[in-house]
Amino acid sequence: MIVHNLGEKNSILNQFISEIRDSKVQKDAMRFRLNIERIGEVLGYEFSKELGYSPARVKTPLGVKEMNLNQDHLVICSILRAGLPLHQGLLNYFDTAENGFISAFRKHDGNSDNFEVIVKYFAAPSLVGKILVLTDPMLATGRTLENVLLALKQHGTPSAIHIISVIGSQQGIEYINEIFPEHTHLWIAAIDPELNSRGYIVPGIGDAGDLAFGEK
Ligand code: URA
Repeated sequence: MIVHNLGEKNSILNQFISEIRDSKVQKDAMRFRLNIERIGEVLGYEFSKELGYSPARVKTPLGVKEMNLNQDHLVICSILRAGLPLHQGLLNYFDTAENGFISAFRKHDGNSDNFEVIVKYFAAPSLVGKILVLTDPMLATGRTLENVLLALKQHGTPSAIHIISVIGSQQGIEYINEIFPEHTHLWIAAIDPELNSRGYIVPGIGDAGDLAFGEK
């Protein structure tokens, strides 16, 4: 897997990341969603540099311009519910992409820290020969992505996989590196050092789904 840790050298991304981490700013759920969406746009822009481009002629009122345009067939797949703002950010730029949605949640074994990942709902088009853009805002243990990848296998083999993530743990990245095909790219805005015993990224941001859509 090729890891692109984009926050290392990107002050715009780091501004958005610092706001989503800040517990005072987090109280504003609309700003939280907006920042995740803006992170999706920046990551989408960076990842677009890996796409292929082919010549296309664009007619203006005064003439014709030869352009290089991307003609790839993209499918953006997101994990409900936390992935929705990130999905929107990508869709703002790749507006002709197809879309897939998967519900995956952690089911804890009573009060214990052990959990299994349950995938319940998924709707995705065929992935055969297409570029799969898989979003997971918090790449914590990597087990959600592992289960989602298994579910998506029923939809065929994509030509390439790009994972878009906001914050990951070192451990989670190492875990998915073993599972995803070699040609997979990971585009991520920050990598944190630790996971706590409940599998949350530390310092991280807390629960991304709750911060975006949870009870007040
Ligand atoms: N999911 C989250 O929302 N946050 C984490 O830190 C880990 C998983």
